[in-house]
Amino acid sequence: MELVRTINHLRAQIAHWREAGDRIALVPTMGALHAGHIALVGAALAVADKVVVSLFVNPTQFAPHEDLARYPRDEAGDLGKLGGAGAHLVWAPPVSEMYPEGYATHIVVEGAALPLEGVFRPHHFGGVATVVCKLLSAAMPDVALFGEKDYQQLAVIRQMVRDLTLPVLIQGVPTVREPDGLALSSRNAYLSDDERYIAPMLHKAISEVARGRDPREAADALLTVGFSKVDYLEVCDAETLAPYVAGSERPGRVLAAAWLGKTRLIDNVGF
Ligand code: PAF
Repeated sequence: MELVRTINHLRAQIAHWREAGDRIALVPTMGALHAGHIALVGAALAVADKVVVSLFVNPTQFAPHEDLARYPRDEAGDLGKLGGAGAHLVWAPPVSEMYPEGYATHIVVEGAALPLEGVFRPHHFGGVATVVCKLLSAAMPDVALFGEKDYQQLAVIRQMVRDLTLPVLIQGVPTVREPDGLALSSRNAYLSDDERYIAPMLHKAISEVARGRDPREAADALLTVGFSKVDYLEVCDAETLAPYVAGSERPGRVLAAAWLGKTRLIDNVGF
């Protein structure tokens, strides 16, 4: 498995594979890899000949008060995991490669980016869309894979790719969970033992709502078991993320974000 830092090196290796007729998959990540990321690599290997994984903690998707500085980083550990998973190339650019001096272009997505996270982290999806567009234009993969754990992010990326007619297939991969239901996330590393014990209640609450429980009741139950704040717990149309119309035949999604001490957890389930 090769490690490259620059867009030129990335493109040279991919051009070489393309000459051989290979189909290329990109798995964009921010590192601190866990089994959820490894499942993305596995899904990528099933649909492509060569799998590129990007490791880049993207500063533009964090607000100044958010956890950019303490976001977990472990490049050596990540490389070991990716080698074992069968990735072919790791691209780990420095910030200066992605946002060089004088960088001045940002992508604004509306539609699926506006509700939920869009209300609580208004800067976030602009940063995600900008960096994903840059990752896609650097690698120009046939397919890019993203976890359903960040379901709204997946919807925003699909919207951007559709709206900008980018020639790439976006594939969602189901959330990987701990045996007690907690969705794997790099931010789970922030949880204390007590918080880790309470954390799976988030998945339990949204699963109950997917089966018909009132969302406000489920949000109150989270506060009762020890969550400090529920940013949202909503039932949405699975594609547009607009509020779900009761009695609709369309697929729905229950999405939630809630705080356990200083850690903000998000999760979602479909119905
Ligand atoms: O989901 C993530 O890890 C990030 O938001 C992504 C898609 C790699 C963009 O920085």
